[in-house]
Amino acid sequence: MNIVILAAGMGKRMRSALPKVLHSLAGKPLLAHVIDTARTLSPTRLVVVVGHGAEKVREAVGAPDVQFAVQDKQLGTGHAVQQALPLLDTAVPTLVLYGDVPLTRASTLKRLIDAAGAGRYGVLTVNVADPAGYGRIVRDAAGKVKKIVEQKDASEEERRIAEINTGIVITPTRTLETWLASLKNDNAQGEFYLTDVVERAIQSGVEVVTAQPDAEWETLGVNSKIQLAELERVHQRNVAYALLDAGVTLMDPARIDVRGSLECGTDVSIDVNCVFEGHVKIGDNVTIGPNCVLRDAVIGAGTRVDAYTHIEGATAGANVVLGPYARLRPGATLGDEAHVGNFVEVKNAVLGHGSKANHLTYIGDSDIGARVNVGAGTITCNYDGANKHRTVIGDDVFVGSDTQLVAPVRIGRGVTIAAGTTVWKDVGDGELVLNEKTQVSRTGYVRPVKQKKS
Ligand code: UD1
Ligand code: CA
Repeated sequence: MNIVILAAGMGKRMRSALPKVLHSLAGKPLLAHVIDTARTLSPTRLVVVVGHGAEKVREAVGAPDVQFAVQDKQLGTGHAVQQALPLLDTAVPTLVLYGDVPLTRASTLKRLIDAAGAGRYGVLTVNVADPAGYGRIVRDAAGKVKKIVEQKDASEEERRIAEINTGIVITPTRTLETWLASLKNDNAQGEFYLTDVVERAIQSGVEVVTAQPDAEWETLGVNSKIQLAELERVHQRNVAYALLDAGVTLMDPARIDVRGSLECGTDVSIDVNCVFEGHVKIGDNVTIGPNCVLRDAVIGAGTRVDAYTHIEGATAGANVVLGPYARLRPGATLGDEAHVGNFVEVKNAVLGHGSKANHLTYIGDSDIGARVNVGAGTITCNYDGANKHRTVIGDDVFVGSDTQLVAPVRIGRGVTIAAGTTVWKDVGDGELVLNEKTQVSRTGYVRPVKQKKS
């Protein structure tokens, strides 16, 4: 089967410089959703018809298995399919999809493909409460499809038909060239309508069949930001219900956003307003507090992620405690039972088994061993203005509060660093390290006082 995706339209009503099909739904361009669904059907040829913003569209979704046909002027859906013809295999049928209809399920498309078989013309139709704006399916007394009539060309009586053309069709390819070449644009919009091919097919003795989707939202297109927002909610509800079905506890399925893939073990609980992006994998018995953002992360079993924690490109082991207000940046790797608490930032660093940094700390470009206690206000000074350097800390080190570790620096095992120490030289195993300072106290000091304004 060939698949042609129409994506040449401008999408004026989006009021945006970005081509319509590149607007994101669940963090991915609309057109990419359609291409991904198309791929699951293993097409022999996959052709995207581009026009408005063609270069941007190519850049965004270009791939070895995707071919592009250019439609310079948008003269209608029939004309659009015509541009793809030279790239198609005439021996197999052609399925036509729309780059701005992102949520059609593969199972629905398979139903249409099966109904049409090798030689019939198939139209995906749906009965809607308000058919205004859509092409109507006109049937004869026996219930056979006679033609599709566009809203603007329809009679009063035809406009009352509730069965509409979703736009998604499958057609034999060998005869398609002749059919498309015979299309006329003597209609209300002055366009070459793909919908007129139905009558050509019937004239050639080709049977026209229809199939229906399981849900109406599968056929909804995006023409405005309102419709985009509505479909985003439909998609997020579907994702949330799939998670619930898989046994995940969601405090509120209306308040979770998944923009990518989220894989959860058993007995995972997710509080409200969490956002998951990229690929996120969560182990058994993990609890995620409210307002967390996780992007490309792996979270081990039994770990607790408390409120307002941000994780990106990081891995946490089992039974870790994170947050509230923790931030793991790319390359952060936490061993089992590690604790990273409020206002602690970890970047490109390993924190070993059971090590803890509970308050107000920056750990960057570091290798920290097991059972290390990093006191409040500790900073790894990893950047000299030009280069990044590593801090290496052995097992069982105690880092006193308000310590600065000026990298590159190595701290041996079991070292004790006194509070308020600036460490810029390596420290051997078991040593105590401190900066000598004196504490001075004086009596008789008088604090300045503000003069009261008279
Ligand atoms: C089309 C159908 C209508 C159906 C509706 C479903 C026709 C004539 N009408 O109408 O029966 O009910 O879809 O939404 O087919 N496109 C191009 N090049 C063009 C014209 C369109 O690539 O020259 C693309 C658009 O970018 C869009 C899709 O085709 O993705 C549909 O085009 P649009 O103009 O929105 O068709 P409708 O008038 O809505
Ligand atoms: Ca449309």
